[in-house]
Amino acid sequence: MKQVKQDVVAPSKPVASKKEPPSFPVVQPAPEKYINFFFFLQNLPSIMARGFVYYIIGCFGLPLLGMAASIVLFLGSLAFWVAGWPCLFAAAWYQGPQKLVKRFVGHFYGVEVILATICYVVGLVSLPILVPTCCFLMFLLVVCFWIAGWALAFGLAWLDSWSYPYPQSVEFITDLYCKLVYFGFQFEIFFHKIPSINPKTLRVDLLRDPKPLKKYICDFTGAYVPYSMENEQENTTSWIGKIINDTMNGQGPLGLIGHIGKNYIYVLPFSDHFDEFQPGEDPVQFSMRQVGNMYPPIYQEWPDKQSDVALTRFCKDGLAAHRVEVTTEKGVKYYVVRTNALAALPVRDGFANYGGDVFFDMDWRPVKIVDAGLSSSGPVTTRPGDAGWAEAKFRFRSSMSVLVTAGDHLYGIHLIVANYMTTAVREYLPTTHPIRRFLMPFTFNTIVVNDNAATNLCRRKTLAYRCFALTESGLEQAYKASSVMLRFGADRPQEAGGPCLDYEAYVDWLQSQGIDTEYYRQGRKYWLIVKKFCQGILDFYYSTPQDYAKDQELMQWACSYLSHIRNLCADYDLESYKSDHARVKETITNILAHFVMTVTAHHEQAGAVEVYVQDVSFCAFKWTPGSLMGTKQTATAQAALMMMTATPFPKIWPADWTYVFPETDGSTQKAAPKQVFDQFQQDLGDLHAEVQKYNKSCHTRSFPNNNPLYVFDPTNLETSISV
Ligand SMILES: [Fe+2]
Repeated sequence: MKQVKQDVVAPSKPVASKKEPPSFPVVQPAPEKYINFFFFLQNLPSIMARGFVYYIIGCFGLPLLGMAASIVLFLGSLAFWVAGWPCLFAAAWYQGPQKLVKRFVGHFYGVEVILATICYVVGLVSLPILVPTCCFLMFLLVVCFWIAGWALAFGLAWLDSWSYPYPQSVEFITDLYCKLVYFGFQFEIFFHKIPSINPKTLRVDLLRDPKPLKKYICDFTGAYVPYSMENEQENTTSWIGKIINDTMNGQGPLGLIGHIGKNYIYVLPFSDHFDEFQPGEDPVQFSMRQVGNMYPPIYQEWPDKQSDVALTRFCKDGLAAHRVEVTTEKGVKYYVVRTNALAALPVRDGFANYGGDVFFDMDWRPVKIVDAGLSSSGPVTTRPGDAGWAEAKFRFRSSMSVLVTAGDHLYGIHLIVANYMTTAVREYLPTTHPIRRFLMPFTFNTIVVNDNAATNLCRRKTLAYRCFALTESGLEQAYKASSVMLRFGADRPQEAGGPCLDYEAYVDWLQSQGIDTEYYRQGRKYWLIVKKFCQGILDFYYSTPQDYAKDQELMQWACSYLSHIRNLCADYDLESYKSDHARVKETITNILAHFVMTVTAHHEQAGAVEVYVQDVSFCAFKWTPGSLMGTKQTATAQAALMMMTATPFPKIWPADWTYVFPETDGSTQKAAPKQVFDQFQQDLGDLHAEVQKYNKSCHTRSFPNNNPLYVFDPTNLETSISV
């Protein structure tokens, strides 16, 4: 990603004055979940008429297409008969076939002649069978459509009716892909039961033995993701559940259906629609009419979203709280929150570029926004009171929502930390290993979740691509750059000791820079609780620091994981200090605590964005130049994305999963895992009370300390990542 030059251009005034937009009230989802078919009786005549037209088109169009294809096949076969051999001989001289020939056959003279002859003879023999077979299959397809195509035609017409304007329908202005994915996912959520962690649901006897996992490369990201079937354990014992699981994983007798649904639905047509909200239209009501039946509950209160005070809250205590930096310009120190790294990324035609670094004085009053994506002639500086101030704030907030969702959440948390930890666990730790058992609740279903994220969100032309404005190249650059833009400890520079897994040391470094917000203070408290828990469990199973290095499986697991998170940890080369037992012990403890904190609290920070993405005037994943809101298609897509990525998972507190810890091989001198776990729960309970007290009293404090904080409240935290 190109580095953007900062704030060297004199303020260039935006062309149009923008009035401060209204703050649209938060809308809670329906109390009970239900499947929404968006079938409105008044649309029946229109659906019937449209469906009839589609059916007629299909009845005549398919035979014509079939006949055309048959003629092409027949003529192609004749052409092969006449000119097949010379063409095959010529093709054998191309670089690709030549390489294969030399690799598998050899270098002797005349091999191309032999190969071309063999292929020609195979073609001559098989084509008289293949061509009639294909023609017969096309005939069958036509007959099937004549018999049952009316259902498909009326189904498409019904999906079309979703796009009719409100109140006739719900104005689902988007492509067939989004409608189908949304419709299908409703069933997933409706039948999803919040799993509790107990000996019946998360069974140690169902854990799978370690082995090299089958993986694939996730598009754009370069991450190797295991297939769902490699999940930590079989999560069902019933034969019906097994068939459903197999089908979803593309296996078993019905596996083809799952395979097609999972791997080919994204090839459906894709187009950008630019319908804008009209003045007075409420984008929150718009989104919730569409997905409110399945949207996750919103626990954040945001009565004011647009003011400068709200901007401070957004950066200091809200979505950008983990991205606060300090900088000094002309001897003046500022807090700064940056998104200009996105400004150079190419976007699709018709959409605005991302960008905006917001500067605050040391009392957290906004001073300026320097936006490198607003103009091609250089960064534009906008200050409070300027005509373009509202637009600059909207652009910054929206760019931040993209940065957090694509970079921090999808890439950093899902595809790097969670993905490589579960891979290392499954590949190296036996099912009886205490660390495998310790991690069970924190890696629960993660392989399935990440397989879904990689295929349905990150893959080419799937949901993330359709949500954001980035081109394929832009998306690839964004993911590549994410590895160096991650926070949560990864941003500590080399001169300060480099990236670290130890959140306490990270917060100390931030404090030394002058960043000391309530977000980091609560984060430190949560970290200390988590680390104490991890240390307590480790102390029981590893009596001395030497015991860590003696455990070969533990070392293999740690080295494998660290090799994939080099950007997050300066201490990644564990082999080089293997004999420094105290350091090895510290690293192992930090690996565990950092992982637990990432998949619980940091996942909450980056992923619990319901209140932001519900409102495209607050945060839009894409918008047209000059707008103060995302398009209607964006509102639908990002609300649907949120709905689909918030399947509830087990809570970290209150809970009891002490049964997972192996009962033997522990130290009799140290507290038993059950005691350590009870203390962990007690500590989480105390933190919950403290956060609640802080939030209840926040209105009594003065600016900028008068906002609630939610992400470190254990009552909101789940044990593992969900999608
Ligand atoms: Fe997530």
